[in-house]
Amino acid sequence: MTNEAIPNLTAFDDTALDKAFAALEAQARESAAGLDSEADVEAFRLEWLGRKQGRLNEVSGRWLKAAPPEAKKALGVRFNALKEVVEGLLDAALAGGPGDAALKAEAIDITLPGTRRLTGAEHPITRTMNEIVGVFAALGYSVGVGPEVETDYYNFESMNFPPGHPARDTQDTLVVAGQDRKPLRDRLLLRTHTSPVQMRTMEQQPPPVRIVIPGKVHRNDAADATHSPIFHQVEGLCVDANITFSDLKGTLDHAMKALFGSAVKTRFFPSFFPFTEPSADVQISCIFCGGKGCRKCKQSGWIELLGCGMVDPAVFAFAAEKQPAYDAKQISGFAFGMGVERIAMMKYGISEIGSFFAGDMRFLSQFV
Ligand code: DAH
Repeated sequence: MTNEAIPNLTAFDDTALDKAFAALEAQARESAAGLDSEADVEAFRLEWLGRKQGRLNEVSGRWLKAAPPEAKKALGVRFNALKEVVEGLLDAALAGGPGDAALKAEAIDITLPGTRRLTGAEHPITRTMNEIVGVFAALGYSVGVGPEVETDYYNFESMNFPPGHPARDTQDTLVVAGQDRKPLRDRLLLRTHTSPVQMRTMEQQPPPVRIVIPGKVHRNDAADATHSPIFHQVEGLCVDANITFSDLKGTLDHAMKALFGSAVKTRFFPSFFPFTEPSADVQISCIFCGGKGCRKCKQSGWIELLGCGMVDPAVFAFAAEKQPAYDAKQISGFAFGMGVERIAMMKYGISEIGSFFAGDMRFLSQFV
């Protein structure tokens, strides 16, 4: 809109002044409300505050000069007030950038849906591992970890693997290259099981020990539906005076019931591990058919789930090199080790071990 020209003032009483200034203020406000661009704002500034042709300049020139001396003060006060209003309008227009129309175009529609951020969730392996560890923590076990890059000594020698044992072969074990000049026991490899952390734990603390050790292990295995060169285990170790095979059976029977339901039965089959004597494989009654026999349990009604046994005195002898209290005449203990993937696959009905490592969100998002 174009503003009217500044009229001449003929009356200078308060009422006349108020009216005249109010009219100007209304015009200024109206102009300021329609400022849509930087050019508009600049035009507004020039029109009202321009030094020579600005409307305020005109007002002060004409009205103030024409005013009788007794009205000059009242006029001056109103003039200053109007100038402040105009300057305020200009500041607001500058600070707020473009006026109404452009602001509307830029405005945020708060009724639109926001940007959805997905909540992370535990990986099914982490979840299963925590669940297993939780069962033992509730029995008073502490939780430990050890290195994934391990020495031959901890992984094999101290676990009572004889020098020529097939597991030591690079066919089965991933070894760090270029260590031929080191003594065998110092050579580095990717641990093939969590059992070496048994020895690391015993070297750190005298008995009694009750500990579970979750962790990642590596084997030079070809991948198939149930094998992966990387997988996870939870190791367990309990050493004290008078620990017997009955303690082992009771503990693992309880743990299997806690993990798979109280209807599950366990049975212990003779087996062999270098670091336990006697050794056993633990089987649980098939959780799919309840023990009647089905495809999953190959009609046997039983599923093999973990290895265990009484700690071999030869293992205690290695521990006693650092902690003499591991004297097989004074103490005894049991150990066990279970594969986390296998347990997770059973619990969640997963048929491909590779699903855990593929990073496919369609698989992983089922566990949120
Ligand atoms: N370390 C064994 C493996 O990887 C599992 C195992 C068996 C661990 C018996 C134990 C045990 O502590 O007593 O196959």
